[in-house]
Amino acid sequence: MEKNKPSYSEARKRTKEEVKVITDAYIMDNDLSKLGIGKTYHIITYGCQANVRDSETIKAILEDMSFTETSDMEKADLILLNTCAIRENAHNKVFGMIGRVQHMKEKRPDIILAIGGCMAQEVSIVNELERKKKYVDVVFGTHNIHNLPKLISEAIDKNEQVVEVFSKEGDIIENLPVKRDSMYKAFVNIMYGCDKFCTYCIVPFTRGKQRSRRKEDILKEIDDLIKLGYKEVTLLGQNVNAYGKDLNENITMAELLEEVAKTGIERIRFVTSHPWDFNDNMIDVIAKYPNVMPYIHLPVQSGSNRILKLMGRRYTKESYLELFYKIKDKVKNATITTDIIVGFPGETEEDFEETLEVVNECKYDGAYTFIYSPRENTPAASMEDNVPLEEKEKRLARLNELINKYYKESNEKVVNTVVPVLIEGVSEKNEEMCAGYTDTMKLVNVKCSKDYIGKIVNVKITEAKTWSLDGVLDE
Ligand code: SAH
Ligand code: SF4
Ligand code: F3S
Repeated sequence: MEKNKPSYSEARKRTKEEVKVITDAYIMDNDLSKLGIGKTYHIITYGCQANVRDSETIKAILEDMSFTETSDMEKADLILLNTCAIRENAHNKVFGMIGRVQHMKEKRPDIILAIGGCMAQEVSIVNELERKKKYVDVVFGTHNIHNLPKLISEAIDKNEQVVEVFSKEGDIIENLPVKRDSMYKAFVNIMYGCDKFCTYCIVPFTRGKQRSRRKEDILKEIDDLIKLGYKEVTLLGQNVNAYGKDLNENITMAELLEEVAKTGIERIRFVTSHPWDFNDNMIDVIAKYPNVMPYIHLPVQSGSNRILKLMGRRYTKESYLELFYKIKDKVKNATITTDIIVGFPGETEEDFEETLEVVNECKYDGAYTFIYSPRENTPAASMEDNVPLEEKEKRLARLNELINKYYKESNEKVVNTVVPVLIEGVSEKNEEMCAGYTDTMKLVNVKCSKDYIGKIVNVKITEAKTWSLDGVLDE
């Protein structure tokens, strides 16, 4: 394996050795801390919440180097793309943006372009950037964000491309800074990586093996957030229900969630839950603590047992539905959302109809739906991708029609009820209104004074719009 370049065989390895927790990996020396004086940065984040949270750390690192943030990419001295590799269209967007920056560099050659995130963990992408996109100054991966100051400084000094991507996941680094996007709600990583290896998915390769953070580090972060006035935390992981399985310490997700609930923070949610590891203790904790939000994202992916097996999801339609009903039964007014892939290799019209049946049965409160996209090096990529694109698009449209119908029904159900809303800011569509989310993750626009921003208030829902709700304060 070449040093500092991604390798799938390395990334696939899962060892039993326990991950170390490092508290001094991030170093900011005097020279590095002055590198960005008088310079600005602009960061574009693609992909999931893991990337959003990583970008919050990247921003803090750049500010430790004295760069200041600008929302105007055209003026920025440093442009950083934090990329996603989950589907082909994520790639296309990033390459479009790289082209745009190339154009900007013709006029301002000293712009620094840095590419990080999951795409940088892909072998073919790094090869392409090295061979054809020499003007990309820094390529870094998901495991070495703490080295960013050194990499940027090297690229400036040498005036050549610097690539550093580790295939093997690193240890857990606990001394990274963070500049949070919100003053009221925060993402808290509870685990990194994923060991599930669903056959279509690239994440276990781009994010490495599952590594749970220590409970005390998680609780300390949440206690600090409470002191800063934060109202909501989202516990983050690709597969949060498996939390603790990789630790020597005996701790489960249900136990962690209970301890987080006991910190007294006003709202807690967690993403994402793989149905396989969702046990009864988890459901009991969600039901017992009022500050655990009754909102569960429970990806089903397909309603056909044959396809679920090919996907390597380790559950059946029947066991999924059993879990679904258990949650609905025990957690009062829970909303459940899902993810679905259409057009997986070999998916027949009958398989697809089984997916529609599950949607009709679960009447989801919302869903993210995707056309299957083959990913380099995954097992599904070598299965015959035999559903024509036109058919995949038709299935997606049919599915979305049904999803939207239940989404609307779910929103209509809360009209005329009073729900708690965390007011986050001024509404995007109407400056006279504020906007925020219910504890079931529904977007609400509320007529209220800006003084309420950052508070959880009771709102009477007056109307269900297509993508949001309208309401008035109920005091
Ligand atoms: N860890 C989460 C999912 C992260 S990826 C989980 O297991 O639930 C988010 C979603 O992207 C997945 O749930 C899946 O629906 C979709 N996805 C992942 N790989 C994909 C691919 N190759 N093609 C299309 N959709 C994909
Ligand atoms: Fe991908 Fe499956 Fe892991 Fe989710 S659980 S990140 S879909 S491999
Ligand atoms: Fe994308 Fe990486 Fe997240 S592939 S979905 S940014 S873990």
